[in-house]
Amino acid sequence: MQNNIQNFHVKTFGCQMNVYDSQRIADVFYNLGYKKVSSEIEADIVLINTCHIRDKAKQKLYSELGKIYKIKKTRSLEGKLTIIIVAGCVAQAEGEEIFNRAPYVDLIVGSQSYQKLPILIKKKLLQFNRNTKKELIELDFEPKSKFDDLPKEKFTNEVSSYLTIQEGCNKFCKFCVVPYTRGPEYSRPVKDIIVEAKNLVLNGTKEIILLGQNVNAYHGETLNKKENNLGQLIFKLAKINGLKRIRYMTAHPKDMHESLYMAHRDVEKLMPFLHLPVQSGSDKILKLMNRNYTSKDYLKIIEKIKKFKPNITFSSDFIVGYPGETDNDFNKTLDLIDIVQYSQSFSFIYSPRPGTMAYKLKDLISLNEKKRRLKIIQARLKKYQEKFNNSLINRSIPVLFTNSIKKKYQSVGYSPYMQLVRLEKTKNMKGKIKNLIITKSFYKSLEAVKEA
Ligand code: SAH
Ligand code: SF4
Ligand code: F3S
Repeated sequence: MQNNIQNFHVKTFGCQMNVYDSQRIADVFYNLGYKKVSSEIEADIVLINTCHIRDKAKQKLYSELGKIYKIKKTRSLEGKLTIIIVAGCVAQAEGEEIFNRAPYVDLIVGSQSYQKLPILIKKKLLQFNRNTKKELIELDFEPKSKFDDLPKEKFTNEVSSYLTIQEGCNKFCKFCVVPYTRGPEYSRPVKDIIVEAKNLVLNGTKEIILLGQNVNAYHGETLNKKENNLGQLIFKLAKINGLKRIRYMTAHPKDMHESLYMAHRDVEKLMPFLHLPVQSGSDKILKLMNRNYTSKDYLKIIEKIKKFKPNITFSSDFIVGYPGETDNDFNKTLDLIDIVQYSQSFSFIYSPRPGTMAYKLKDLISLNEKKRRLKIIQARLKKYQEKFNNSLINRSIPVLFTNSIKKKYQSVGYSPYMQLVRLEKTKNMKGKIKNLIITKSFYKSLEAVKEA
């Protein structure tokens, strides 16, 4: 059987941090001389970067593995080797259990060990050569080593790029797996972030989206051994020539701080859009979730930010059907939505996760009731999203063209408020910012016919 690796394929589930990690993983593979292929059938390595946040997300891994196993068997009949790697948050959370359910998986690597992929793959190839089979699994939390030892070269050249500045979480909301799948909070040093940002800009990036599970809890070391918070970091990044836009996510209401408000006021490159998940509008539920703020605290933050940045819009995550949520609690969430009038949002039915503190709570709300609440909340959120989108009609909006959707006749980009904007294609606009007059609005996008 052939045992040299030429091609790889990475499949990504989950949040933006997994997208960032998958790009870093691809950088590792490029460095080893492997080529990226778009289909699993051609790939000598198939890596699945997984998400554990809700049960449905986890199940995706196993349905995906079933498909890849079939491909592995077919390729094997053709004398081709296929290494199946499970990475990310399910790898971290379930570890060896994955081998029990899917013994054909070759390697399990947790969310903070991607720098070890070259050595792990080498070990696996040795096993193949010697016709031995030993389970290979790497689950250490070593965020410093992850960021220090991943390749510095960037092979991606996107207009809008993610940059992880903080990883892990110490907050332990009772429903959430992240503190277990990503480990304790870690902030990268300021200098490393600036170097990475400059490299991205040299490669064509115009917008950087700073990532962290708790991005505004960032407290990275500076060269003189002091600490910078997210606000201070944004002021520094804004000085990079050629960088046009800065965003950050996901922020936690507890970690908003003065210099971040000031950054919203003074840094023009910082976009007027903030994803600030509230989860629920009921103080009782917020307490049961261990969110450590009340709906009043949250609304105060919203009011304060608006003072610093009057045109800012907000998005949020919501969980419905958390154990103990009554109709009255649910209505409080709807009331909060009516006050904030989010321009975008995500809402989910609570999914009990093994290992979390909420897992053992008695869940007395029927699935039908949860679905009913989800429908109501989504209709309410949609109303405000459409209202905001509609309010932009006939206005001139600066759009950064990413052309991430490959339609020949269309150029696509993003407004400052993170709305997708389509323009009939006249020339290649990728990487440019143009003022467009908005002519049509939809639930999730805007349309323009000409430049302003
Ligand atoms: N750090 C962010 C959230 C990261 S997880 C914060 O604190 O806001 C992304 C979103 O998934 C959460 O905001 C929450 O709405 C949702 N989520 C997390 N665990 C969940 C669960 N067990 N069931 C349903 N939704 C969940
Ligand atoms: Fe999860 Fe809460 Fe941490 Fe967000 S703050 S990642 S919801 S534990
Ligand atoms: Fe999922 Fe892990 Fe992100 S659980 S949401 S991929 S941090």
